[in-house]
Amino acid sequence: MNTQSSDLSPHNSLLITGGAGFIGANFVHYWIKNYPDDRIVVLDALTYAGSKANLAPVESHPGFRFVHGDIRDYDLVVNLLGDEHIDTIVHFAAESHVDRSIHGPDAFVDSNIIGTHTLLKAAKTLWLDSPSSTSRTKSSALSPQSSSYRFHHISTDEVYGSLGLNDPGFSETTAYAPNSPYAASKAGSDFLVRAYYKTYGLPMTISNCSNNYGPYQHPEKLIPLLILNCLEGKPLPIYGDGLNIRDWLYVEDHCQGIDMILKKGRLGETYNVGGNCEKTNLEVVNTVCAILDKLKSLSPQSSALSTQSYSSLLTHIKDRPGHDRRYAIDASKITSELDYAPQESFETGMRKTVEWYLDNLDWCKNVIGEEYNKWIEQNYTQAG
Ligand code: NAD
Ligand code: TYD
Repeated sequence: MNTQSSDLSPHNSLLITGGAGFIGANFVHYWIKNYPDDRIVVLDALTYAGSKANLAPVESHPGFRFVHGDIRDYDLVVNLLGDEHIDTIVHFAAESHVDRSIHGPDAFVDSNIIGTHTLLKAAKTLWLDSPSSTSRTKSSALSPQSSSYRFHHISTDEVYGSLGLNDPGFSETTAYAPNSPYAASKAGSDFLVRAYYKTYGLPMTISNCSNNYGPYQHPEKLIPLLILNCLEGKPLPIYGDGLNIRDWLYVEDHCQGIDMILKKGRLGETYNVGGNCEKTNLEVVNTVCAILDKLKSLSPQSSALSTQSYSSLLTHIKDRPGHDRRYAIDASKITSELDYAPQESFETGMRKTVEWYLDNLDWCKNVIGEEYNKWIEQNYTQAG
């Protein structure tokens, strides 16, 4: 098996789309820590989900540049790829919240499908169509075995749909069956990336990952929402019976998986990345509450609760429409081909995460705007 498919040079020039969002920012921190001599250009539209504060720790790094712009802006992307001699695109930028996709799917089609297609077109123009680029992609016909360029597309396990309790986890050959507009838009973008490889030979890889958690995740997502609501003594809104299952992966472990795919992954391939860590939503709430009970016990004055555990704030609310019951990942391909293994357990990763939020309450205030408070009010207060 050929796992030496990447000819990435010792010093790369990376374009990180969506690098001001949760996983993108963690990836930028990870990359600069591990490869300080590389050039890192972040392209981000700074939607409600992105914040320059997420990149504050690296903004003075000599190889780092932030560009405020949209991945749908073809001219901007082509110029960036050329001016910065970009050889690697790691594409995180997307609308990413299932609940928002239910209320407003258009933005998901625009950014996730049209945006990804704009990036693909720009990469094809610069890397395949311009005369100077052809020697850098060793193409046998249209499917290159090896290239010094790489388009790595970040996707999700949600494209595979929902599993029954006893079904095996999603593998790379599981048929796509997306259920939410978010998942459908990610599925559409995955297909476009694949098509650019099959049709034009654009050197690409895809990773489909399970639910991430860790520092810098926007407070609209389950785990930060729970932490912040606990601290404010607010109800912890759980959809339906709370028995939906997700596979949880600490964000740095996801970054390491992407790194391995960039360095050793075979072109044209998809790799599923997971934590082998299935939890019901109730288990997640109880874990957050137990950690907070130890670190910052609920003061009797802060609420009129009958017990002193944050778990008494749990409130069941009306279920999400089309709510997928279970996600699970079969990670045997990335494990056996690339020797990938997550480093954090759920217990250690959750502890780090809760501690990070406790230490960064100013960051939370900074990213929560009026729009966010209205969104929460509208969407998480209907009784179950
Ligand atoms: P996020 O919502 O926190 O960040 C998305 C970033 O993309 C933001 O900084 C936003 O400003 C930027 N963005 C959105 N539209 C843009 C556009 N048109 N042009 C430029 N920038 C734009 O998302 P995340 O949780 O960090 O997810 C990153 C990627 O990982 C997404 O592609 C998502 O589908 C995928 N993913 C996420 C998870 C998860 O658990 N969060 C799991 C698997 C895969
Ligand atoms: P989420 O973080 O939105 O990720 P996804 O739906 O993409 O997996 O939600 C994770 C799980 O938590 C999902 O089953 C929905 C549930 N959930 C709640 O029960 N209450 C909430 O307030 C949120 C945000 C999510």
